Amino acid sequence: MFVALLAFGSYLLLGSDATVEHNINTTAHESVELLCSMNTSPASLQNLRFYWQDERKYVLYSFNEGKEMPEHINELYRDRITTFPQEMIRGNISIRVKSITLEDNKRVFEAFAEISDPRGIFQFRKICTITLHVAVPYINVSLAVNEETRTAVCSAQRGFPEPLVKWSLHFLSNNSQCLVASSGVTTRAVQDPQDHLYSFSSTIGVQRGLYQSVTCFIHNPTLNVTLNATRTLNKGEAQRSVPGRAVALTVAVVVLLAR
Ligand SMILES: *[C@@H]1O[C@H](CO)[C@@H](O)[C@H](O)[C@H]1NC(C)=O
Ligand SMILES: *[C@@H]1O[C@H](CO)[C@@H](O)[C@H](O)[C@H]1NC(C)=O
Ligand SMILES: *[C@@H]1O[C@H](CO)[C@@H](O)[C@H](O)[C@H]1NC(C)=O
Ligand SMILES: *[C@@H]1O[C@H](CO)[C@@H](O)[C@H](O)[C@H]1NC(C)=O
Ligand SMILES: *[C@@H]1O[C@H](CO)[C@@H](O)[C@H](O)[C@H]1NC(C)=O
Ligand SMILES: *[C@@H]1O[C@H](CO)[C@@H](O)[C@H](O)[C@H]1NC(C)=O
Repeated sequence: MFVALLAFGSYLLLGSDATVEHNINTTAHESVELLCSMNTSPASLQNLRFYWQDERKYVLYSFNEGKEMPEHINELYRDRITTFPQEMIRGNISIRVKSITLEDNKRVFEAFAEISDPRGIFQFRKICTITLHVAVPYINVSLAVNEETRTAVCSAQRGFPEPLVKWSLHFLSNNSQCLVASSGVTTRAVQDPQDHLYSFSSTIGVQRGLYQSVTCFIHNPTLNVTLNATRTLNKGEAQRSVPGRAVALTVAVVVLLAR
């Protein structure tokens, strides 16, 4: 879905009127700096005009020949914007937006600016385009193994966006691990219609006697953070058939799971 936007932190120069495009990934409640600089500086702030708007053309901030234009600012952005007046004279029209929420997810912010020429003529052009991705981290990942039903269930509540869940099983016989094919994984995520947060639960079948432990990995694609939880399996039949092994294997779990 974001294929075209993956140029995080890199810059796409489009033609001679270089528009800088990039992505910002952040966590809800944080502030973000929408960084944007022109490659020329105005002679004075009287020669500078710029504004920031989102893809709905709601104005975040407007500056006109030395004066802020609060009447142009949309209600949604009022009192959320900090500017850097000492930077403007250098053509740096960055602003900071605070109190980021999931309502701001996937917003595309554009900065338009112009420096007047000696005849006082302004002509706005787009300087920067910034796409914002907002996340809420999953915190408590819980993993439960049910020896009766031979299933393992991994779950976490109230994060954003929907996570990518992967499972790995650690063989008893040869200490190696394998990823569980997605066809063997059932993941259900439900989204709270009010605050948009997801809660999910993911289930796999775990054959008895084959594995010493099971691990689930919860990847938040926006934060690029992966949480994991591991459960050592009750050796059950394996313990009876291969005694001597249980102790050594418990130690091996800790060592071998550290990739
Ligand atoms: C523009 O100003 C912001 C805010 O002070 C700063 O973080 C950024 O480094 C500046 N950019 C340039 C190119 O100086
Ligand atoms: C996470 O788990 C800990 C301990 O199990 C608990 O104290 C805490 O409240 C949980 N946090 C959330 C956000 O569920
Ligand atoms: C480990 O053993 C399992 C079966 O017990 C087998 O499927 C797997 O391929 C083995 N892995 C390696 C790396 O030998
Ligand atoms: C930022 O978030 C988007 C959307 O989830 C994701 O596709 C992209 O890979 C993330 N970028 C980084 C650097 O993590
Ligand atoms: C996510 O983080 C890993 C390292 O933890 C890095 O190798 C990878 O490039 C990152 N992905 C993105 C989209 O930035
Ligand atoms: C699981 O997460 C911990 C941090 O919580 C990390 O140190 C460890 O390397 C991770 N394990 C794997 C197998 O990724």
